[in-house]
Amino acid sequence: MHSFAALFTLALPVFASAHGHDRISRQHRRMSNRAASTPHVRKATYTLKDMYQGQSFLDEWDFFSESDPTNGLVDYQTKEDAASKGLAYVQDDGTTILKVDNTTTLQSGQSRASVRISSQTQYSSGLFIADIYSMPHGCSIWPAYWSVGPDWPNGGEIDVIEGVNLQELNQYTLHTGSGCSLTNESVSSGRVLSTTCTSSNGDNTGCAFQETDTRSYGHNFNMAAGGVYAHLLADDGISIWFFSRDEIPADITSQTPDPSSWSSPGAFFPSTSCNISDHFYDHSLTIDTTLCGDWAGAAYGGACPGTCADAVADPTNFDYAQWALNYIAVYQS
Ligand SMILES: *[C@@H]1O[C@H](CO)[C@@H](O)[C@H](O)[C@H]1NC(C)=O
Ligand SMILES: *[C@@H]1O[C@H](CO)[C@@H](O)[C@H](O)[C@H]1NC(C)=O
Ligand SMILES: *[C@@H]1O[C@H](CO)[C@@H](O)[C@H](O)[C@H]1NC(C)=O
Repeated sequence: MHSFAALFTLALPVFASAHGHDRISRQHRRMSNRAASTPHVRKATYTLKDMYQGQSFLDEWDFFSESDPTNGLVDYQTKEDAASKGLAYVQDDGTTILKVDNTTTLQSGQSRASVRISSQTQYSSGLFIADIYSMPHGCSIWPAYWSVGPDWPNGGEIDVIEGVNLQELNQYTLHTGSGCSLTNESVSSGRVLSTTCTSSNGDNTGCAFQETDTRSYGHNFNMAAGGVYAHLLADDGISIWFFSRDEIPADITSQTPDPSSWSSPGAFFPSTSCNISDHFYDHSLTIDTTLCGDWAGAAYGGACPGTCADAVADPTNFDYAQWALNYIAVYQS
């Protein structure tokens, strides 16, 4: 089962050859030239409220260890078990690692140990800046960085980084209670995938954009040493930006972020047909890696061999299934 697909997509290290990186950067630069600025964002002064880095991801976020609500073949670990199995730890350089077990051989259909954590602090507005070096990806793997409110879907859900299997472009999705849809105001550089944000028993697609930057997800994200995802949750809309590592705006690095000066966001969900403050409140930031389940399992196939459950059983498919987090900073205006 250490397949063609696994080799092709997983075999390269996090910090890739300069060659592959150059090629991707050039491609992106062409796109950046087209990008407009962000007149839709109010100018404001943002003050750092919370900084998660190193041990604070483990101490100020809760480990979710119940069964996966999205029916994945994962066994989410408690804080203690994640630590003892080496699935959640801080490296000497301060990078926080959250990983999927890659040492245990399972039987097809069994669940693999993984980690899901959520911030104890909840937010109803803010500018959230996530600097990430690498992310999990590959056959059966469904990583996500997202935020979610209470009484799902009424408190809303913002999926900032999400994808499954061999997906190459990141997807941005909102899930809400009734009365929220996406009006395409053509502010964003992303491609509208769907416009119904309201989730119901019949349809849980959400409203969504697909990012166009090929470094936004998975293998190519990791090849470029990751980058920054920034999202702004404000009354007049939700904007989400992706900046690859070598294009992170200086005001982000200097902790004086001014989103009104950035290039156009990959996704913009305006308040035109969705009252943002009514539909998004008390959000916990969440990072997880699930396997198969409602999306990765349902979408499994193509270049991924065998069944999704077979892929989960083979530990060698998970050697690169890890989040390497620099920091997440929360600003409010
Ligand atoms: C969104 O708006 C842009 C610009 O007007 C247009 O090119 C694009 O087709 C629209 N997308 C959808 C899904 O309506
Ligand atoms: C959203 O709804 C609240 C009442 O629930 C209202 O006070 C607010 O003005 C609305 N916001 C917008 C942008 O329409
Ligand atoms: C698990 O993956 C790590 C890299 O994330 C690698 O260093 C290690 O050798 C792998 N373990 C096994 C048993 O293959």
